[in-house]
Amino acid sequence: MRVLVVDDETEEREYVAGVLRSWDYEVLEAVDGQDALSLLSTAAVDVLITDLMMPRVDGFELLRTLGADTRLPPAIVMTAFGSLEKALSTIHDLGGFWFLEKPVDISALKILVARAGAQSRLAIENEGLRRELAFRGVLGGLIGQSAPMAHVFDIIRQVAPTSAPVLITGDSGTGKELAARALHEHSRRSGGPFVALNCAAMPEALVESELFGHEKGAFTGAVDRRTGAIESARGGTLFLDELGEMPMPVQAKLLRFLEDFQFRRLGSRQEMKADVRVLAATNRDPLKAIQEGKLREDLYYRINVFQIELPPLRDRKEDIPIIVESMIHNLNRKHDTRVTHASVDFLAMLHARNWEGNVRELRNVIERAVILAGEGPLRLTHVPFPGSRVDISAGSTLAPLASTPPSLQPAAPGDVLPVKLGMSVDEAERVLIEATLVHAGMNKTRAASVLGITARTLHTKLRQYQLETGEGAEEEELAASAC
Ligand SMILES: Nc1ncnc2c1ncn2[C@@H]1O[C@H](COP(=O)(O)OP(=O)(O)OP(=O)(O)O)[C@@H](O)[C@H]1O
Ligand SMILES: [Mg+2]
Repeated sequence: MRVLVVDDETEEREYVAGVLRSWDYEVLEAVDGQDALSLLSTAAVDVLITDLMMPRVDGFELLRTLGADTRLPPAIVMTAFGSLEKALSTIHDLGGFWFLEKPVDISALKILVARAGAQSRLAIENEGLRRELAFRGVLGGLIGQSAPMAHVFDIIRQVAPTSAPVLITGDSGTGKELAARALHEHSRRSGGPFVALNCAAMPEALVESELFGHEKGAFTGAVDRRTGAIESARGGTLFLDELGEMPMPVQAKLLRFLEDFQFRRLGSRQEMKADVRVLAATNRDPLKAIQEGKLREDLYYRINVFQIELPPLRDRKEDIPIIVESMIHNLNRKHDTRVTHASVDFLAMLHARNWEGNVRELRNVIERAVILAGEGPLRLTHVPFPGSRVDISAGSTLAPLASTPPSLQPAAPGDVLPVKLGMSVDEAERVLIEATLVHAGMNKTRAASVLGITARTLHTKLRQYQLETGEGAEEEELAASAC
C-alpha cells in the first residue's frame, strides 16, 4: 500500500511519514501541492494525506486538480487546529473524506489510513468487475457484443471518468439514454444525481425555466419558485435529451452556462454556480440541424468534446440473441412469466427484420411475445406482426425457417441439439443447419464454413429444406464467389 504525504512543514511531514513507514506502508513525500502533482504524474498512490495551507499549489487546489481528471485517490486532509469547520464543506465537495486535526494523533491516523486503504482496494476491485462485465457485453443497461458496440463501450469507459461534455447521437431507440446513464454510472459523480431533461417533451416556452428554474412571479403562471434541472443536477450529471429541439435563445443561455457554470434562475439577479457534467443527445444529424438553423454551431462544438454514435440495430444483428436472452430474463420477472428462450425460427425471424425502431422496437416485440407465450420457448406463433408470419422487407432473402421449430437455445459451440431416434437424416441435418445459421448471425458464408461445406452446398440444402424464398441475385453471387 503506497501513501503520499504532502506538507510544507518538514517536521510534521517527516513525523507522519516515519510513523507510516513503521507500520510498513510505502511512503512518498511531497513538499507542496505542485511537488505532489509532478510526483503523481509518474507514480500512482493508494492513499493521499495532505495539508491544506501550502505555498505554490495548496491542498484545495491539489484536490481539485486531481478530482477534475479522476486521479484522486481516497484522501485524508490534515487541518490546523480550529480551521476544521471552515474547511469542511469545501473539502467535502472536492472529494476529501477524512480529516485529521494537527498535531496528528497517531491512533486516529492508524484508523483513517487503514480505512482509506480499504476504500482504495474496493475501488480497484469494482473497476475490475466493471471491466469484466463490459467485456461480457453488458455496460449499464446497454447490451451488445458486436464490434460496433464494443467500440461504444470502450469510448464510454474512457470518457466517463472525465468531466467533459459528451454528445450522444444515433437513431431513435438505439439506446442514447442508456448510454448517458452508463456514462453517469461509470463516473465519479455516480453518487450524485442524474437529471434528464427532454427538450422535445415540453412546450418551448417552458424549456428555459425547466432548465434554469424560476423565482415566484418571474412570469405569468410562476406561482412558486422552481428549481431548474441544472440546480437539481448539482454534483451529478445533466442529460439534455433531444438537444436539437431546444429553442435557440435557450441554446445561447446554455452555452453561456457551459463557459463558467454560472446561471441565474428566471426572474432572479443572483448569479449561482453549479458543478454539473453535461451530456446531450440528438437523433438528428447534428451538422444538418446546424444547417437547418435548429442547433447553434458554437453550442455544438462546445458539447461535442466527445461524440458517441450509437449504431442502428440493423448494423449489429449479431447482438440480437444476447439482447433477446436478457430481455426474456427481465420480462419474466416483470410479467411473472416462465419463458425459457427464443426458438431458432423466432430468432431467424428477428434477424430478417430491418428494425427501423431499433432496440426499443425489438423490446416491444419480445414483450408482446413473452406475454402471449407465458411459458416455454418463444415461437413464430407468438409474433405480433399482422398479416405475415415474417417480414422480409429487410433486404434479406431468408424465408421463415422451419414450421416445426427444433426449440433450440441461441446456439453456442458445443451445444447439444435435439436429434431424436426416429428422425430422418434429412431432419437431423436441417436442425444442425438451422442452429448453425442462427449461431452465425444468419451469415451463410460463415455458417457454411462452420459446417465444413461450401457456400453452394449450403445454398442447395437451404433450398432443399425450403429455408429460402427464392433465387436472389445476391444469393447466387454469394454462392458463386465462395466456390
Ligand atoms: N444496447 C441496448 N441493450 C439493451 N437494451 C437496449 C439497448 N438499446 C436500447 N435498449 C432498449 O431500448 C429502449 C430505448 O432506449 P433509449 O431510450 O436509450 O433510446 P434512445 O436512443 O434514447 O431513443 P429516442 O431517440 O427515441 O429517445 C430502452 O429502454 C431499452 O429497453
Ligand atoms: Mg431518448
